[in-house]
Amino acid sequence: MAVIVVSFFYSLLGSSTRSTLSKLSPFPIFPLSLAYPLSSRRRLRMAHTVAQATLGLTKPAHVEVPKIDFAVKEIDLVEWKGDILAVGVSEKDMSKDENCKFENSILKKLDTHLGGLLAEVSAEEDFTGKAGQSTVHRLPGLGSKRICLIGLGQCTPSSSASVYRGLGEAVAAAVKTAQASNVAITLASSEGLSADSKLTIASAITSGTVLGIFEDIRFKSESKKASLKSVDIIGLGSGPELEKHLKYAGDVCSGVIFGRELVNAPPNVLTPGVLAEEACKIASMHSDVLTANILDVEKCKELKMGSYLGVAAASANPPHFIHLCYKPVTGPVKAKLGLVGKGLTFDSGGYNIKTGPGCMIELMKFDMGGSAAVLGAAKAIGEIKPPGVEVHFIVAACENMISGTGMRPGDILTASNGKTIEVNNTDAEGRLTLADALVYACNQGVEKIVDLATLTGACIIALGPTIAGVFTPSDDLAKEVLAASEVAGEKLWRMPLEDSYWESMKSGVADMVNTGGRPGGSITAALFLKQFVDEKVQWMHIDMAGPVWNDKKKCATGFGVSTLVEWVLKNSA
Ligand code: BES
Ligand code: MN
Ligand code: ZN
Repeated sequence: MAVIVVSFFYSLLGSSTRSTLSKLSPFPIFPLSLAYPLSSRRRLRMAHTVAQATLGLTKPAHVEVPKIDFAVKEIDLVEWKGDILAVGVSEKDMSKDENCKFENSILKKLDTHLGGLLAEVSAEEDFTGKAGQSTVHRLPGLGSKRICLIGLGQCTPSSSASVYRGLGEAVAAAVKTAQASNVAITLASSEGLSADSKLTIASAITSGTVLGIFEDIRFKSESKKASLKSVDIIGLGSGPELEKHLKYAGDVCSGVIFGRELVNAPPNVLTPGVLAEEACKIASMHSDVLTANILDVEKCKELKMGSYLGVAAASANPPHFIHLCYKPVTGPVKAKLGLVGKGLTFDSGGYNIKTGPGCMIELMKFDMGGSAAVLGAAKAIGEIKPPGVEVHFIVAACENMISGTGMRPGDILTASNGKTIEVNNTDAEGRLTLADALVYACNQGVEKIVDLATLTGACIIALGPTIAGVFTPSDDLAKEVLAASEVAGEKLWRMPLEDSYWESMKSGVADMVNTGGRPGGSITAALFLKQFVDEKVQWMHIDMAGPVWNDKKKCATGFGVSTLVEWVLKNSA
């Protein structure tokens, strides 16, 4: 198959994420610059033409490049000069002696410099170090304008990285409130931590801060400028190993932010064609390791992708089948992986239109969340360039719409592996697109495939809004990916692939129908996907219908990117 190596550098989405490692200041051991949203929407050339999305006349705004310099320092906290000195404090750190003085040496020292005010104000505010608590004070006596205590709960050195990611997020919140431009972050108890723990903790703080600061303002006509310029991480070591870890954290964050931007973009802006362009842009930014191949309708017909094309048939915006391939710059490849993402830029339900309260039709721009995870991971992998692993990033992008050319309930589709599907519900479209994407992925010669999809409302009923369901016949793959998700701090729960439920997927006229009944709806969806995977290939399906979206913040989470990157790295040399 011909591979088009694209080489253009424009963004249709108005901003993109970057992370660079620079050596700027003489004082820090190394500053890490994490830069995000930039560039304006510009015209884009492509091997084939894509109708520009103009409906509603919306264009993502030009966003200035906020750049945050991260540095690791070993200095006296009392001497640090800046807007906020943030200290992560556990409940144990808050214990006081018989004279009501802190026992913790760092808090004790700060309190002494503040004439006892730190103990006084934290007691007044009932700050006990519980997780979720934080307090900011302007107190004279330090180099810093403000001191911020952030509760870490009953944390211990072995606490999971999510505690420290939470610390970074809390710092980000304090920074926004104070409109601070520089901040130092430290722990009340960092002595005695192993070098490894320090690396993990510093990385987690960095990720939490970067992701907490990020706000998607591309579609707002007015918004506050991001204030944060620099973050000093104090007391968690220094040196090239830490430098490497923070660079990695920054690269993953860039991928997560890119994923969030893709999901947040409205469906009149992010059409299948624009999603393909964004994918090509990622490939062109890392053309030493990534190639892009976009298949148009004609090519998909040649490959007999009847299932995918059935879904796309009603839309005025044509489908684009996206295939990015990562190959390391040098050295042998010992593992070949496939990442497949559901890429419905909008899901109306089709003739089985989504109606009624709770159907969330107005949120169905997020139905490409799986593809956002996959392309976010591609961005991070392109930056990190892991050795010894080849990765195929695959998205059958389209819209599920309604028109005279659209598929009807009752139609029979023929997928690219020859299997026939009676469409008894046009709203179960994700699995139809994934069917041909999985067949295509298997044909790339991969040994393992992970697919991610906002596949079923049933999975939200089963696991709620923050946990994704995992389905796989392979215990080995389950172990690998679940371990990766622990490190990444993303919640996955393995669900059963109950073969006996296939009964409900039988058709009178075709090989199968595309929906069983309501019972076990996520399981029958996974069993459907299994029909399109080679038995030789280890495969996992992740249903991320819940965690793709943060209802409270009304924005995308970037779910999946971190776990995928972590998993790919585990499979690298
Ligand atoms: N994209 C939806 C799944 C979804 C629903 C994700 C709500 C997030 C929130 C998917 O295409 C769909 O419509 N699934 C149907 C399947 C049903 C027809 C068997 C569903 O879950 O209702
Ligand atoms: Mn649907
Ligand atoms: Zn859908």
